[in-house]
Amino acid sequence: MISKKLNDALNGQINAELYSAYLYLSMTAWFSAKGLPGFAIWMRCQAQEELFHATKMFDYVNERGGKVALAAIAKPDSKWDSPLAVLEQVAKHEEHVTRLINDLVNCALDERDHASNIFLQWYVTEQVEEEASVGEVLSKLKMVGKDSAGMFAMDLEMGKRVFTPPVAE
Ligand SMILES: [Fe+2]
Ligand SMILES: [Fe+2]
Repeated sequence: MISKKLNDALNGQINAELYSAYLYLSMTAWFSAKGLPGFAIWMRCQAQEELFHATKMFDYVNERGGKVALAAIAKPDSKWDSPLAVLEQVAKHEEHVTRLINDLVNCALDERDHASNIFLQWYVTEQVEEEASVGEVLSKLKMVGKDSAGMFAMDLEMGKRVFTPPVAE
């Protein structure tokens, strides 16, 4: 069993992961409308990853005999000034999620729930990877600037991303 406190915190994180998926889907739509299909594919993969993060946690709560309680998902932004503005928001959002994951780990440790601590380490590692990959896209985008040929090439590159669900351990 997991404590009530940690159960509530995990439900909060399930909501945060679903919100992330929602936000990235909104960004997917924005890129599609702007004629950047490669960026749209990249962002859709990002949304699929978030959905995976949410359902992985959902399964864990059930597995531990907790109670999954789904709350309303907040409305995401839908307008941005530029691709750069979108990616800057993604980077900021991922940093925010990293703080949430760290708080969750602290909560698991406070509750002396070692199984949950181990479970959450997967998310700790995942956040390192996410922040790094978004940082990489962000620096490329800054290099390209307003160069349309560069933007065209980058869109092709971004479109190569495929979502592969991690194999269950
Ligand atoms: Fe996530
Ligand atoms: Fe993420």
